[in-house]
Amino acid sequence: MAQEQSPPSGPDLTHGVSLAEFVDGKLAGHVGDQEVLLVRSETGIFAIAAHCSHYHGPLGEGLVVGDSIRCPWHHACFDLRSGEAVRAPALNSLDRWRVEQRNGQVFVREKLEQPAPRARNHGEAPDKIVIVGGGAAGFAAAEMLRRREFRGSITMLSNDAAAPVDRPNLSKDYLAGSAPEDWLPLRPDDFYTEAKIDLRLKTEVTSIDINARNAVTSGGETIPYDRLLLATGAEPVRLPIPGVDQPHVHMLRSLDDCRAIIASADGARRAVVIGASFIGLEVAASLRARNIEVHVVGLEQRPMERVLGPEMGDFVRALHEEHGVIFHLGDTVTAIDGKRASLKSGGVLEADLVVVGAGVRPRLALAEKAGLAIDRGVTVDAYLETSVPGIYAAGDIARWPDPHSGQNIRVEHWVVAERQGQTAARNMLGQRAVFDAVPFFWSQHYDVPINYVGHAENWDEIAVDGDISGRDCMLRYKSGERVLAVASIYRDRESLQAEVVMERAG
Ligand SMILES: Cc1cc2nc3c(=O)[nH]c(=O)nc-3n(C[C@H](O)[C@H](O)[C@H](O)COP(=O)(O)OP(=O)(O)OC[C@H]3O[C@@H](n4cnc5c(N)ncnc54)[C@H](O)[C@@H]3O)c2cc1C
Ligand code: FES
Repeated sequence: MAQEQSPPSGPDLTHGVSLAEFVDGKLAGHVGDQEVLLVRSETGIFAIAAHCSHYHGPLGEGLVVGDSIRCPWHHACFDLRSGEAVRAPALNSLDRWRVEQRNGQVFVREKLEQPAPRARNHGEAPDKIVIVGGGAAGFAAAEMLRRREFRGSITMLSNDAAAPVDRPNLSKDYLAGSAPEDWLPLRPDDFYTEAKIDLRLKTEVTSIDINARNAVTSGGETIPYDRLLLATGAEPVRLPIPGVDQPHVHMLRSLDDCRAIIASADGARRAVVIGASFIGLEVAASLRARNIEVHVVGLEQRPMERVLGPEMGDFVRALHEEHGVIFHLGDTVTAIDGKRASLKSGGVLEADLVVVGAGVRPRLALAEKAGLAIDRGVTVDAYLETSVPGIYAAGDIARWPDPHSGQNIRVEHWVVAERQGQTAARNMLGQRAVFDAVPFFWSQHYDVPINYVGHAENWDEIAVDGDISGRDCMLRYKSGERVLAVASIYRDRESLQAEVVMERAG
């Protein structure tokens, strides 16, 4: 997704700048009409595009770690030498320029060619890789396989009607009506043909024959594999409420779901959102942006308290109330009869549309049927391999040994799914890459982004630094002296620093 770019600012870097002008090892300027960032690491000075290739985050506010730079917004990581996006959510490389140092001055010269992808197969490379799932993990895996010069066949089977999309956007800008269509696809359609990725949409995989090494589709086709990645994601929980099957009652997972909500929102005056967690509240914010009156009904007493704690929960509630959202907490919808949603507490809410955001369940049916080890998710080892050799799992379905918490965890985060897809791809090519990324997610409510690093299911204490209501804070979720996770608002650098500390703590 790109955003409108402001005209280049800062010095013309072709004229040379002094090292003394660098602040925190960085200096932003331009080359022609392109914004360029000079970065000084321990081993050299690099000139790279000033903005992240994900959502255009300002890399000048990022963190340099070794010979890499991390984006302040959603923690993508770029190799300063090659420009490669080595960690999702960015997938595209950064432009780079040649740097020359003379008499204490740094000059930026011509733009460098993108380095050719390097084949990094180890051991016996497979011929045929099948990916089940066309979401975050599946796409990131396919992209990484080609980036690593895998020359065998890649077949990507997805029961979705749409090619892989930027799913987080479906509850945010796209639903709010502020993102154009072309922000959504992770890659344009011709990418798949050019990269020789056989993407088969509307294709349901019904079983995996682990002995014959075939994926079997609902149409009866058998697709052989040498390595298989299961990345079937999660599906929204269906509430057993009378009336949820009506056309104006929606759930949100796919682009089609989102388009159906947008169609219902057209001309709607009032909406009821069932569920006061991340997706429900992001939907509420997006519907408010469409000037629809929004009522949020949630069982919890405070939104998002289970994940973010009471202080952040109160803030999130107040933020939505400032924007006109009306909460019905500690309550639930017991029936939807046409436009009338009945509350357990006895009231009735009129709703032209209803969106159910009551959490998700990992889609485990295929893995269960194939006999893979299951533990509230598909059990994988540190290399994301399942209990059946040659079959890997990534994303919302995978429960992996997280070295940071010391627990086997499963999370539902976009960035984690993509990074797992990338790691699984390397391992399917014979590398032995441990998945040891510290979990990260973000959530956006109006103009307030909440970033979260780490994993804390329980904690003893939340240490709050700064001012939550002033939107300038860092919350540390602690168990004893150990920081399990941090949540922050507009403390991007500290969030990146916390990530590095957690990585180094092991
Ligand atoms: C609206 C919305 C907003 C979100 N916002 C955020 C956010 O802001 N931040 C964040 O961190 N996370 C967010 N998430 C969560 C994030 O999108 C998921 O964690 C991520 O998509 C998981 O990736 P995945 O590849 O495991 O699954 P998915 O992206 O769901 O992909 C699964 C794929 O498998 C396909 N599939 C499933 N079963 C079969 C089958 N039997 N045969 C063939 N294909 C099959 C599906 O069609 C789909 O293409 C959001 C999710 C939603 C729905
Ligand atoms: S804008 Fe850089 S990671 Fe999202």
